This record gives sequence, C-alpha cells and structure tokens, in this order.
Amino acid sequence: MNMHADFGGRVVLVTGAGRGLGAKIAARFAEHGARVYASDVDPSAPLVMDVADRASIGRAMERIEREAGGLDILVNNAGLLANGPYDATGPEAWDKLVAVNLTGVYNCVQAAVPAMRRRGRGAIVNIASVSYDRGGGAFGNVWYGTTKAGVVAMTKGLGRELGPFGIRVNAIAPAVVATDMVNKLLTDEARQRIVARIPMGRLAAEDDVARTAVYLASDWSDFITGETIAVDGGFLRT
Ligand SMILES: NC(=O)c1ccc[n+]([C@@H]2O[C@H](COP(=O)([O-])OP(=O)(O)OC[C@H]3O[C@@H](n4cnc5c(N)ncnc54)[C@H](O)[C@@H]3O)[C@@H](O)[C@H]2O)c1
Repeated sequence: MNMHADFGGRVVLVTGAGRGLGAKIAARFAEHGARVYASDVDPSAPLVMDVADRASIGRAMERIEREAGGLDILVNNAGLLANGPYDATGPEAWDKLVAVNLTGVYNCVQAAVPAMRRRGRGAIVNIASVSYDRGGGAFGNVWYGTTKAGVVAMTKGLGRELGPFGIRVNAIAPAVVATDMVNKLLTDEARQRIVARIPMGRLAAEDDVARTAVYLASDWSDFITGETIAVDGGFLRT
C-alpha cells in the first residue's frame, strides 16, 4: 500500500499495545515516522501503564513529557471483552469492564488533553467495536457493546468540544479480528457464521484497523472529527 502519512517524530501513546491490535497499531505508527510509546498493563511492556489506574497514567505522562516533550497522538486501544448472555457478566466483571473500557478512556483523555490544548493540536483515536451499534456483537455481549457505545458517544462529544482547540477525536469500530481476545471463542463454526454475515467475506485483519488508526491520526484526515469509522467489510450495512 502506498499511503504515506509522515508523522515526522510526532509522539504517540498507544494503550494496550502489548499484543493484538495495539501492538500492530504501534508498529504502523513507528513505520510512518512517529515516536511511539507502546504501553500496556502487562509488566513486560516497555511502558507499563494501567488505564484504570490514574497514578500509573500520571507517571507515564510525566515520562513522555520529560523524554519527548509531550504527546501529540493518543490511541485508546486497551479493552476487555465480556461474552455470553446478560447474566454471564457478574458485578465484579462489570465493574472491571467499565473501569477499563470506559473509565480507562476517560482517564487517558483527561491526562492527555491539557498539553494538547497548550500546543493547539492533537489527535485522539478510540478503538470501539461494531458491537456499539446493536448493544452486543458476535462475541461481545450487551455489557461490552454498552461500553463501546459509550466510547462512540465520547468520541462525538469530545470531537465537538475539542475541535476549537485543534484536537480531533475519532473512533474505529472493527468487526471481529482474530486476536487473543477472541481466539478461544473463534471455533471453525463461529468463524464461518461470522464471515457469512460480512459482505466482504472475511474477518477484519489487525492491519485493517492499524492503517485506519494511522489515517485518523494523520494530517490526511485533517477535517474529520467526532466520527466513528466501521472497519467491518460492510457488516453494519447488512
Ligand atoms: N479482537 C476483536 O475482535 C475486536 C473487535 C472490535 C474491537 N476490539 C477492541 O480492540 C481493542 C484491542 O483488542 P485486542 O483484540 O487486541 O485485545 P487483546 O486482549 O488481544 O489485547 C488487549 C491488550 O490490552 C491490555 N490491557 C488490558 N487491560 C488493560 C489495562 N487496564 N490497561 C492497559 N492495558 C490493558 C492487555 O494486556 C492486552 O495486551 C479493545 O479495545 C477491543 O475491545 C477488538
């Protein structure tokens, strides 16, 4: 692919980048000239940061400020899945889901935006899911879909509020991607059932999402904000 977004050393923080979509997103940004901080709650990450823990976010932001002079781009990718019928997710699982999928985005936005406002520019990309649309999807249940609908609402409202400060906020709603998050649920039968409902006849690939994240953070999407782009091979249009 010939797309060339040159980030010229702009500083990017990707959450949940230890594996899966986040790792691919981080790699794509690096390839396009960004200075990337790939963070994860997993202790093996180069930058350990738990999106549910404000103190750990504060420490990460200080380090980025000190080393790189502040953040230009935030990718809110960290997320947990909840699966099964409504009563399969108990109160503890619900609290954890909300703490990561919703409060995690809140926390990172609140930590990142002040410096972006001072510099008068910035881009935020949130990873939602097609399950936002119907309150649940192929694997993500009603509670998961609800958190992702919240992410879409944040994206719209923040796009409106932060536009005057030169900060764009957009989201991506991927269909199922074969990552660790879903692999154990992705039996041959489940895969066939899902693919049969996708007009383009395949699952989403990590790179479909990563390339869209690069686009939404680059100057090529300069006048796009508050939007959620489905990366789903047409699934939400069926
Ligand atoms: N895989 C899919 O089918 C799919 C589809 C639509 C949307 N998504 C969304 O994409 C994002 C990435 O999903 P994935 O499939 O790569 O998942 P994954 O489970 O493979 O990876 C998620 C990463 O997030 C990290 N993480 C979890 N909790 C964290 C926390 N509190 N703080 C920081 N990091 C944390 C994990 O350690 C892991 O490295 C999630 O928001 C997910 O909801 C995934």
